[in-house]
Parts: sequence; C-alpha cells; structure tokens
Amino acid sequence: MTDLQIEKEFKASARAHANIAVAKYWGKRNSDLNLPLFDSVAFNVEGLYTETTAVWDDDDFRDELIINDWQVPSHVMGRVQRILDSIRKDVGWSKRCVLRSRNNFARSAGLASSASGCAAAALAAASAAGLELSESQLSMLARLGSGSAARSIPAGWTRWYAGSDPDGSDAFAQTIAPPDHWPLHVFVVQISATQKAVSSSEAMMRCEKSPFWQAYLHEASQAADYAQTAILQRDFSALTYAMHHNMMLLHALCMTCDPPVCYVEPKSLELVKRILRACQAVQACCTMDAGANVVVLCEGASYPFVKNDIIALGVPFIQTKIGTGAQRI
Ligand code: DP6
Repeated sequence: MTDLQIEKEFKASARAHANIAVAKYWGKRNSDLNLPLFDSVAFNVEGLYTETTAVWDDDDFRDELIINDWQVPSHVMGRVQRILDSIRKDVGWSKRCVLRSRNNFARSAGLASSASGCAAAALAAASAAGLELSESQLSMLARLGSGSAARSIPAGWTRWYAGSDPDGSDAFAQTIAPPDHWPLHVFVVQISATQKAVSSSEAMMRCEKSPFWQAYLHEASQAADYAQTAILQRDFSALTYAMHHNMMLLHALCMTCDPPVCYVEPKSLELVKRILRACQAVQACCTMDAGANVVVLCEGASYPFVKNDIIALGVPFIQTKIGTGAQRI
C-alpha cells in the first residue's frame, strides 16, 4: 500500500430535506448567528432534498462549494463559510473543505434550498472532520448557514426554539412529532423556478420598518404554540387556521416594506384562493414561504379533490409526504 492510500480520508456525505414553516421564522435577534425573535414550527418535505459530499484536504487553500455543477463564487459562500469556520475552530485545524452538493429541485425559489443545503453541508462537513455532534449541536451548526436550516436536521414536524442565550447555545430545533405521526399528503406546487429577487435575510430587515411590524410581532409570538398544539392533536381545522393566518401575516408584512417585497405571483394567488375556497368543504390547507411556490397539505379523503384542483392550475407539482431528518449517506 502506498503512503497516499494509508492516509486517512476526511470525507463524508449527507442528505437533508427542505422544510416548510407552519409558524414562520421572520425577524432576528442576532443576524450574525441567525438567532430568531420567536420559536417556529415546520415540517420536513420528503421529496425535496440536497445531497452533499464534504472533503477536507490541504491546509491554506480556499473552501469550495459546487452546487449542481455550478462553482459558487467565493463572495456568495458566506453562509456556508460560517459552518466550515465553526468546524475548523472545533477541530483546531486549518484544512480547507470542498463541498459538492446536488438539489433535486430549483434553488432559491422559495422551496428552502438554503435550509436543506446548509443542513446537508453541516452534517457532511462535521462528519468528514470526525466530529461527533448531538442532533441539537448539528441543528445549531446548520443554523449558522441559514436560520431555517436548524429545522432540517431533526425529523418530521419540528420546533426551532428561539432561546435567550446571546451566543445561541439554546437556539436549536427538535422533533415535536415523527413523520408518521400524521400521514398527510404534501403537494409542492412549482409556480416559479427562478431565483427570488429579494433574499429572506434582506426582506426580514426591510420588514422591521413596516408600519405593521409591531402588530406582526404580537401575532407571530403566539404562532408556534398554536401550531404545535394543532399538530400534536391532529386537529386539521386548527392547522388550517395556523397555516393560513401565518402565511397571510408574512406576505402582508412583506408588501408593506419600503421598498416593498412581493413574493406572490398571480398563479400563487390563484391556487391560494382555490385552497381557501376548498378548505370550507374538505381537509386542505396551504402555505408559502419566501417565494412564489405554494405547498398544500391534505388528509387522505380530500386527496382526489385537491389533486384535481392543482392539476387544473396547469403548473408542475410533486406529491410527497412529511419527511425524515438529515442522515449520513
Ligand atoms: C419565510 O432561513 O432563508 O422561509 O436565516 O436569513 O438564511 P436566513 O433566512 P431563511 O428564512 C426563511 C424564512 C421563511 C420562514 C421559515 O422558513 O420559517
């Protein structure tokens, strides 16, 4: 065996799913550490994921990130860089990391690619470096890249605790119910595959100047408790209220920033209105994160009706279920 072959290889791969918020994270108490103002509640989406391979090699070179064969310019690597810097500090080395990442869905189109991407990067890079982190520690590591990534580490329905510690040591996500707790159908309806014009971070900052910010804070601070109770009790009417109210609050707030942010496209609105009508008669509800795409949840008996309504819209969609947590592959 050559010297090269017996050298330890610092390499690992991981898969993490996108997550969609029922009670949304919007507003930060610390933007360097991505510490939120409130707890948020979300579910992982089995059919939307990122797979990442991390390799640590020579010292003193720049880190690299390649997403679906696109070499990410170093000036936009900032988010992932924070994850890698934190690992370097923990391990006490100065090796560089090469991350090769593949999404099975459009990047930056409001389908939480930064969440699945940063969660997969955190798990792959930490494992490749030989760090044995708990789920909470991994959640906090992923959070450094993108806040919502904290929720793509644990499985199923998750709650991300805002915590109060200035260094963020209590701001991690945990499972509140496993994927099979409530076997809902999930439809991800792709209204737009183009990159959103305004990032979530930028929009959150603008929203703090909205004349409705204080009203938003009041409502949003209660959203996670309400959503968690609805999920634990499998109460579809309460879940519908939680999702619709929280979605409308977020998008109304965005529209009242200066300059305004409007993620909603005509087709998004058309589908949201269809679901608002349908939910009077069937068990269906929907939400939109920071992008034009719409995610619909429904119970088994309502499935044929909801599917026909989505098909009538004439846009691509995927059918999936509540997803698992981040895993080594
Ligand atoms: C609307 O996690 O993308 O999807 O922490 O600045 O990276 P950064 O923001 P990000 O924001 C997600 C916002 C949201 C709501 C949510 O996922 O809770």
